Amino acid sequence: MKEVLELIEKKKQEFAQLPLFKYMQDTSIEPRLRLAWAPCAAPFIMSFGDLNKFVLREEPTNEIIQTIINRHTYEDERHWIWFVKDIETLELDELLTFSDTLRFLWGKEAEIPRWLTYELCRYIFQGNIIQKLVVVEAIEATGNVMFSIAAKIGQEIKSIHKKNCLYFSDFHLAVETGHATGSEHIEKVLTQIELTEKEKLEAFVLVEEVFEIFTKMLDSFLVYAIQYRKEQSLKVVHNCPTPMYC
Ligand SMILES: [Fe+2]
Repeated sequence: MKEVLELIEKKKQEFAQLPLFKYMQDTSIEPRLRLAWAPCAAPFIMSFGDLNKFVLREEPTNEIIQTIINRHTYEDERHWIWFVKDIETLELDELLTFSDTLRFLWGKEAEIPRWLTYELCRYIFQGNIIQKLVVVEAIEATGNVMFSIAAKIGQEIKSIHKKNCLYFSDFHLAVETGHATGSEHIEKVLTQIELTEKEKLEAFVLVEEVFEIFTKMLDSFLVYAIQYRKEQSLKVVHNCPTPMYC
């Protein structure tokens, strides 16, 4: 597993260079606008709780890796609660009816985040226990990059607007360690897992695929954030309360 973890680390460094992260670190843009992709991410973030609860978790188990995964799911199944709170804090609540909200969440703009969730389910259901762990570790690596950067925006929002974010915060980052959580000395435990040559090669392919689908999702967030920013400037120019619908 050591070589698989090394590949995840290498992919993580590349992932950190994505244009969305550059955008999120551009302090010339108002901090809340740098997180304006959040509504578009909602289908993934909300279903990630269920993915932990219903797809990753298998109980009861005597299997050591499944036990590690199960412990981890109890942490990650509830982070969507912080996300919903932050949507309010970031003033991203548009005046949408319930039907318009459904159209948005199941529409084109949030299609890639929905697709990513199903892709993850496919990897998990089709994979063996090692592959399941590899998916968890790759997801956690992407999460660690995201929350390292998002937490800094949360700090800026706190100092400028005196508002506390929960999802985009150091508080969240503290539990996004980059590895499965809930088990002691997890990095050591993971590196000691012996893989056959075949398992290792399959894991390498899986790591590449997980990073690829997350890259697609983050690229779609950037498109949405840029569009949202343009619409916000129109709102200022035309004094339109809901520019997307004017
Ligand atoms: Fe999380």
